[in-house]
Amino acid sequence: MSSLPSGAIIAPSVLAADFANLQRDCEMLNVSQADWFHIDIMDGVFVPNISFGMPVLEAIQRHAKKPLDVHLMIVQPERYLETFKKLGAEIITVHYEACPHLHRTIQQIKDLGCKAGVALNPHTPVNVLEDIIHDIDMVLVMSVNPGFGGQRFIEHTYEKVRKVRQMSDTVMIEIDGGVTSKNAKQLVDAGAKALVAGSFVFSSENPIQTIADLKNI
Ligand code: DX5
Ligand code: ZN
Repeated sequence: MSSLPSGAIIAPSVLAADFANLQRDCEMLNVSQADWFHIDIMDGVFVPNISFGMPVLEAIQRHAKKPLDVHLMIVQPERYLETFKKLGAEIITVHYEACPHLHRTIQQIKDLGCKAGVALNPHTPVNVLEDIIHDIDMVLVMSVNPGFGGQRFIEHTYEKVRKVRQMSDTVMIEIDGGVTSKNAKQLVDAGAKALVAGSFVFSSENPIQTIADLKNI
């Protein structure tokens, strides 16, 4: 991706925000060193949880002043790509496990003018990306099983990041789940560029400082 910041990209997950104070939390992210807003869309089918949908994303879009990084944990994501583009998505990530026609889905995302990402569940080996990795902008390596914030980081993730990096020097690698200041540096050293952090940011006493700490690892 062009015009990237030199350090890690920090993408706080709005899933961990206070939904009763969403405007306040969006404004906090605007003034923080966060690079992207990470938006978790869950359908209760692909993952055993439902997060939020279009009306909430529309509200987020009204206040967010940074790129929206939309992570679709839904079946048949191709049905909604255009809607998410209209709602301000700059990056759209779909799950490998949810896309039997992944190549077509990626082309659809790109045709909309968005960056295209593919997410891998913890049990999915990275080599399934061999024939698509040069067509995509980002690989999202799930470091927890998708569906919930606040879960424990899976240590095997480092190994997966290194393998993705071996497959491509240029693809952006994003890590999602259980990211803290304890594992952030090791993830970046392994080849990750973007770090999603939900509960670590929003449960901290000073989220702005926590984001700055992650940014400056
Ligand atoms: C999990 C979501 C994550 C989640 C991360 O399914 O994709 O983005 O919000 O939350 P933490 O950082 O609390 O693990
Ligand atoms: Zn996510």
